[in-house]
Amino acid sequence: MTRSFEKVGIVGLGTMGAGIAEVFARAGLTVVGVEADPAALERGRGHLEGSTGKAVAKGRLTEAGRAEILGRVALTTSLEDLADADLVIEAIPEVMAFKRALFTDLDRICKPSAVLATNTSSLSVTEIAAVTARPGQVVGMHFFNPAPVMRLVEVIHTVTTAKGLAEEVAALARRLGKTPVSVGDRAGFVVNRLLLTYLNHAAVLLESGLSTRDGIDAAMRLGVGLPMGPFALLDLIGLDTSYEIMCALFQETRDRRHAPAPILREMVSAGLLGRKAGCGFHDGDGPSSQAVGKPSVNSVALMGEGAEEFAAQLSAAGFKVEFGDDADVVIAMSHTPVIELAAHLPHPHRLVGLHLVGEKVAEVASTVLTSPEVARGVEGLVRIAGRTPVLCKDRAEFVVDALLYPYLNDAVRMYDSGYAGMDDIDAAMRLGCGYPAGPFEMLDTLGLETVRDGLRALYAEYRDPSFAPAPLLDKLVTAGARSIRDLS
Ligand code: 3HC
Repeated sequence: MTRSFEKVGIVGLGTMGAGIAEVFARAGLTVVGVEADPAALERGRGHLEGSTGKAVAKGRLTEAGRAEILGRVALTTSLEDLADADLVIEAIPEVMAFKRALFTDLDRICKPSAVLATNTSSLSVTEIAAVTARPGQVVGMHFFNPAPVMRLVEVIHTVTTAKGLAEEVAALARRLGKTPVSVGDRAGFVVNRLLLTYLNHAAVLLESGLSTRDGIDAAMRLGVGLPMGPFALLDLIGLDTSYEIMCALFQETRDRRHAPAPILREMVSAGLLGRKAGCGFHDGDGPSSQAVGKPSVNSVALMGEGAEEFAAQLSAAGFKVEFGDDADVVIAMSHTPVIELAAHLPHPHRLVGLHLVGEKVAEVASTVLTSPEVARGVEGLVRIAGRTPVLCKDRAEFVVDALLYPYLNDAVRMYDSGYAGMDDIDAAMRLGCGYPAGPFEMLDTLGLETVRDGLRALYAEYRDPSFAPAPLLDKLVTAGARSIRDLS
């Protein structure tokens, strides 16, 4: 018999809980929102009223529609009001002891047929289910921030979840207008495992001085087409939440890339939690633009693949490229470090590496010998050519590829482990994070061999074993496969 979910309880009305309540109410279900005390309940009401109010202001919702949505949500501080709910979703802070205590209470209060779900981002659903007398009716239902906007719901089943329940919950997610991806219970599930590893890597690279906050954000947003750069996204998710997810990942994997970057702990301790605190990597006003470098360059020598394209862009913008040994700056078009070239030049401090990324970005790599004036000059030239410059150090794969390739490698490993299929992983990253393409789609666009070689370069530079190409990727390249989907 198919279950009917009509009355839904949401426990915890912070950003995520209130967003989830709105999603259910918008889909016509009756919602009971529970908070611990009256003050928290009022904050929850504020989230709901604010979010639906914005929708009215933008003309996406009528006042009558808003009143209907809010009318479907009853707010209370008493868990006992969940006694006749068909489904209860927990969205309280990520502390296992709190979750287990809550599920013990819910198990006692809720009717025997009720399904209990957790919106945990990385804690073990199995461990939460184990405190109840109904582990067969416990699942994970993981929404993405902002819940009313992001279209993915990860549905997590454990080894004790009753057969068929995950499918019923997935059908409910579809009724909410979301796309479900069903997976087993591993720390971080699909999205947070891939996403937070990448975000942590960005924080590690920032600390290493590879580039700046705004440089890295611009590189990933404009160069790869992601909706937000890593630091803007860390602010949206919350640095405390991100830190907790990293800890949970590290606890399970012992992979040092999951050990939170020290800067995250420092910022969390300082209360710089991101948007909810009004200050995080960015202040409340969002990313500031990079300082504009004044091009004090009269002549430039260009070499390497893509030199003509860049020269044409400069010429089109009215800048005359003069070739010659005595040029003010020497630009080596390259996606790999250029320092070895410096030894062959009469003025090694005039050399920079330049990597054009997509249509909008150019990475400007300074070697240990490059003079700051030369880097600033090239920064100005890049702007003249109509691109956003990303200043960085002359390290393997510069910024974009150094962040992108390990993420793609992790996706290949995840697939190869049997945890999730390629289509599900692609859909999860597109719909959960608004990525323009999933990792396997990106792999096919970039080329398996390019990514494999980039990973080899990263491994050679940083000696981190997890940068070594996944064996599956290596084998596909050796076999001459063009697409990872040649496998299926
Ligand atoms: N609540 C409701 N609606 C919202 C919203 C919110 N908090 N924020 C934005 N929106 C709506 C806007 O009203 C707008 O709707 P409209 O097009 O119908 O007018 C739409 O979303 C787009 O918003 P904006 O034009 O203001 O801004 P952007 O185009 O820049 O989009 C974004 C904002 C949707 C947040 C986009 O930048 C994005 O997709 N970012 C990536 C977010 C992401 O990766 N989330 C997942 C994080 S991981 C996670 O949550 C898991 C957890 O366990 C940590």
